[in-house]
Amino acid sequence: SWSQSERSAIADLWDKINVDEIGPQSLARVLIVYPWTQRYFGKFGNLNSVAAILGNPKVTAHGKVVLNALDNAVKNLDNIKETYSKLSQLHCEILSVDPDNFRLFADCLTIVIANKFGAAFTPEIQATWQKFLAVVVAAMSSRYF
Ligand code: HEM
Repeated sequence: SWSQSERSAIADLWDKINVDEIGPQSLARVLIVYPWTQRYFGKFGNLNSVAAILGNPKVTAHGKVVLNALDNAVKNLDNIKETYSKLSQLHCEILSVDPDNFRLFADCLTIVIANKFGAAFTPEIQATWQKFLAVVVAAMSSRYF
């Protein structure tokens, strides 16, 4: 459950996030820092260098898709598990994505946000943000068994 100050910390941070910028950067970071994640994106074309990943339009488009999906969690804080039930099932049964990768993505997203907002991303805000992402990661993993 969420306190009022957690709710407003998440809402305030999310308001400042430009999905079209942060989404592509976060997905690109996952692919660069954890290169084995590239195996899921075989049809995305050239991922053979940092420059190729950063300039790949499919990475950019998909980064926006993933971050837009996070908007559903921000707007349904009390129902994140149900909100992601279908998406979890898709990643498990159809996409066969190892659920460990959700945490890797969450960590890259947090680093991109820290890089973007600097000192304004205070330890307190980080703590709340990471609690939020932990719930998202658990929800994305909930249909794996
Ligand atoms: C597709 C969300 C993490 C691999 C998708 C889609 C969404 C989504 C909304 C599109 C689903 C559709 O077309 O119906 C998320 C969220 C994540 C996450 C919210 C974490 C918070 C990951 C991670 C990986 C991954 C970590 C792999 C390392 C894929 C792949 C597709 C996909 C391969 C299909 C892409 C395509 O064919 O265009 N994801 N995703 N996802 N996701 Fe995720």
